[in-house]
Amino acid sequence: MKGLILSGGKGTRLYPLTYTSAKQLIPIANKPVLVRVIEAIRDAGITDIGIVVGDTATDIERAIGDGSKWDVQVTYIPQDAPLGLAHAVKISQEFLGDDRFVMFLGDNVIQGGISPLIAQFADSDYNSQIVLTNVDQPEQYGVAQLGSDGRIVRLIEKPKDPPSNLALVGIYMFDANIFKAVHAITPSWRGELEITDAIQWLVEHDYNVHPYIHQGWWIDTGRPGDMLEANSLALEELTPKNDGYIDRDSEVDSRVTVEKGAEIINSVVRGPAIIGRDTRLVNAYVGPFTSIYHHCLIENAEISRSIVLENSQIRNVNRRIEDSLIGRHVVVHRSPIRPRAYKLTLGDNSRIGLLNE
Ligand code: DAU
Repeated sequence: MKGLILSGGKGTRLYPLTYTSAKQLIPIANKPVLVRVIEAIRDAGITDIGIVVGDTATDIERAIGDGSKWDVQVTYIPQDAPLGLAHAVKISQEFLGDDRFVMFLGDNVIQGGISPLIAQFADSDYNSQIVLTNVDQPEQYGVAQLGSDGRIVRLIEKPKDPPSNLALVGIYMFDANIFKAVHAITPSWRGELEITDAIQWLVEHDYNVHPYIHQGWWIDTGRPGDMLEANSLALEELTPKNDGYIDRDSEVDSRVTVEKGAEIINSVVRGPAIIGRDTRLVNAYVGPFTSIYHHCLIENAEISRSIVLENSQIRNVNRRIEDSLIGRHVVVHRSPIRPRAYKLTLGDNSRIGLLNE
């Protein structure tokens, strides 16, 4: 089998972070979502992986390279514009050939990996296997309606009036019949070739599409809130270790991972949390549910349930920062210069919540 990861698209819902970098490279518990996807596919025994890339191709290729770091071979498949998930399949036909394959959306995080799913599909005569899970807001996803016999009756993309709470998880398995479907369908109301419509086409043409109901957690990391939620869940699954330095005046929980070169000085860290490579905490409070990526400085400041990306600094802030997603090379500090006013350099679409004092 082969793997196909979709990592194109614009990531507009995660602006401003995704103006400068691909959304699939944002780390969850200090590991980029895309790396989690590659590892899940590899752990299911698949090493020949195509990655569909768009505007952020350079970024993704710089981060992933030829895939050898993860013991896989990566082939990049450029997509001129995000014309839909089924369009991404269409342009990958040459890479996929006649092989059965798993398609994994590069911004999805799933508990427990995909090995059982892949084994079930590999041993079956299914033409396709889709993954479904119960969600609270089905109108935000592709939705499946199952019959009383458990078979798929209908699949609809982001329905206004969802027939069930069963959403399509961004993991799909296909054989080569999917190419007939992606060539047969036409663009949806949002101008995209929808994979949901292609699978509906398979169902209507009597191909065997099997629904697999996923029981653990699953998150489509499309919005900042989803990122923080995925970060919390992934942190809870980390096996803690300390490869850095913790001084005697600090208090660090057992559920904290301290990466190489990190220094924790006179600080408190509550788990689950991760402190990245070469990051320094000085007179700080961090956690729980917080990931600080590499080469950051948190000094005389407090932060919880947040993600801080690489090379950022939070210094001398006298209120706790919470539920925040802080980008790369960001500086948040108390200004020593009068007048005592907020001085902000914020990119387009930034959001800050100021206290009403
Ligand atoms: O996450 C699950 C949902 O993913 C499913 O329930 C929906 O049925 C499915 O259509 C999809 O919906 P989204 O609206 O969340 O898809 P999004 O546009 O966010 O794209 C998902 C990933 O695929 C993302 O990593 C970007 C990439 N992509 C997207 C498009 C439209 C591409 O590589 N090429 C594309 O043309």
